Amino acid sequence: MLSDVLQRNRDWSARRQAKEPDYFTRLAAQQAPEFFWIGCSDSRVPANVVAGLDPGEVFVHRNVANIVHSSDMNLLSALEFAVEVLAVREIIVCGHYGCGGVKAATEGLPQGLTDHWLEPIRRLARAYAVDLGREPDMEGRSDRLAEFNVVEGVRRVGETPILHRAWARGANCRVHGLIYGLKDGLLRDLDCSIGPGHFNEEGAQ
Ligand code: CO
Repeated sequence: MLSDVLQRNRDWSARRQAKEPDYFTRLAAQQAPEFFWIGCSDSRVPANVVAGLDPGEVFVHRNVANIVHSSDMNLLSALEFAVEVLAVREIIVCGHYGCGGVKAATEGLPQGLTDHWLEPIRRLARAYAVDLGREPDMEGRSDRLAEFNVVEGVRRVGETPILHRAWARGANCRVHGLIYGLKDGLLRDLDCSIGPGHFNEEGAQ
């Protein structure tokens, strides 16, 4: 019920102010997050909660299956703001095991508009068909695909002119790929981080 939400909000606000009287005035004056989070819309993977971060500590963009579409103006606008105005140091692309969006992409059932949205995941499933075929079951395949989707997202973020511009002017901004386990509440590093060196390597080619 909406009234419950509003009541919870009043309680939360009161508790926060009791702990730190100038909490909201301080936050309202400025946000200076270190992190930009690109994650799934799934209600079980809220960035602040799973990463243990307070309001003001992470700038967030979420969409179905945390897909980095290279022409998604919503994501790109948030990314540009995060990099150029907020000057975040760490960009995190975070997927999760048991992702409904990833599963939907592999089921082959018509889903309407979602089919267009999920196309990059289908493409990854085709490209990594051999690796996915080694998984023992559907759950394993879908979780492995969720990992590939994160790695691909990191790569795509690193390929944006936004990051290339930032690295060219010497910003020490890094992009990381994490995956969250719904069953244990843990974030795992997929070891696909890229930073300014990535730009230099590409530039040297
Ligand atoms: Co999901």
